[in-house]
Amino acid sequence: MLWPTTATRDADGCLTIDGVSLDALADTYGTPLYVFDVATIREQCRRYTQALNRAWDRPRVVYAGKAGLSRALLQIIAEEGLWLDVVSGGELAYALACGFPAERIHFHGNNKTPDELALALDAGIDTIIIDNFDEIEWLKDLTQDRTTPQPVLIRVNPGIDVHTHDYRKTGIPDSKFGLGIENGQAAEAVARIMAVPGLRLNGFHAHVGSQIFEIDPFVDTVETLFVFGAQMRDEHGVEIEELSPGGGLGIPYELQDPDSRIEEYAAALGACARECIVQHGLPAPVLTIEPGRTIVGQAGVALYTVGSRKEIPGIRTYVSVDGGMADNIRPALYGAAYTAELVARPGDGDLRPVTIAGKYCESGDILIERVDLPRLSPGDRLAIPASGAYCLAMASNYNQAYRPAVVFIENGESRLVQRRETVEDLLRRDVLEVPPSGSA
Ligand code: LLP
Repeated sequence: MLWPTTATRDADGCLTIDGVSLDALADTYGTPLYVFDVATIREQCRRYTQALNRAWDRPRVVYAGKAGLSRALLQIIAEEGLWLDVVSGGELAYALACGFPAERIHFHGNNKTPDELALALDAGIDTIIIDNFDEIEWLKDLTQDRTTPQPVLIRVNPGIDVHTHDYRKTGIPDSKFGLGIENGQAAEAVARIMAVPGLRLNGFHAHVGSQIFEIDPFVDTVETLFVFGAQMRDEHGVEIEELSPGGGLGIPYELQDPDSRIEEYAAALGACARECIVQHGLPAPVLTIEPGRTIVGQAGVALYTVGSRKEIPGIRTYVSVDGGMADNIRPALYGAAYTAELVARPGDGDLRPVTIAGKYCESGDILIERVDLPRLSPGDRLAIPASGAYCLAMASNYNQAYRPAVVFIENGESRLVQRRETVEDLLRRDVLEVPPSGSA
């Protein structure tokens, strides 16, 4: 589904989420505004936990925080019993400051610094996912006085290609992430970690990419992890306690896109894992999955206000809105496609193709290349669905844009969970003192 599950049009034809008028929210908080349906977030969390519970005895669902983080979201993730994956010292410090339980945090990243690793160790997080040899050396030093070893996984590169944008492929041999199984580097990392008393190697992780609709690549990943795990048990005596085939299931962005097949995906992973434990004589490990986009993507709707319009004869009509690549860089970065609807009643007029342009100073700042809409006038409001993942998370202050406000709706009530930035936020990091007025 493209829209939040509670989204509908009211008697006046206006878009609502869980009964709350999006027009009224835009009046109150201004635009661009990101609105999230909490019911949809909770539903997606439950779909994963229930489906993986049915499929496997030792399931673990870890939300990939890079898709989007806020204090309010972390509270929901914690309430729904999910764990959290962080990929930087910033995400880790933020999650800890929000009170997310350290014992439910996994720490990823291809270039964790010694300081970030020390923060993770001090906080007592559950698992560090080791990506490279340098990290093993740093962890060796940092854990030398530990009495209980720090659990770790190794991120392996399984050499699996997937259908997605090149920038979202992570499991092909030429990748900055993980250590290759094929080239022997993953096995070398096993040997090195087994020699570090401060670390306990619990198993392996792989993540092959993002926005993937096929289920086969994920099943292949599980199989590869088990085969490699069994080999490392035989060769190095590793006790496989956890295997993690990562995240990456896709969501629809346009009407014609397929839905996310969460239940089928979980069932297929479980079925493959069952075969593998029999085949390799392994005790059942924890099976960890790391969805990001599928947890929050569908729940989020971005609201914009239409400004200028430019009809270029014989070429196209540009309609500019008050946001763009500073709050959603995905179209510019990946050529990601979106659709939009009028927030108010669409009316009976003809639909016309338009290009929805952002307001930033880049020709590539186009939110939607082509969408058929009624004639738009300044002040009209547009809603873009499927905006909950990797939009705000990748937002910037380009052109000194203020990052948008975020509203959560639950049980028919809305609450502001992040305010819009102000010029004071932009100035806060400038340490040069303002000269007294009149000085040269
Ligand atoms: N686990 C690991 C190790 C990852 O690297 C990622 C995403 C995930 C889990 C979550 O994947 P998801 O379920 O969200 O697909 N900015 C891009 C997506 C980058 C994904 C990076 N890693 C986009 O907007 O399409």
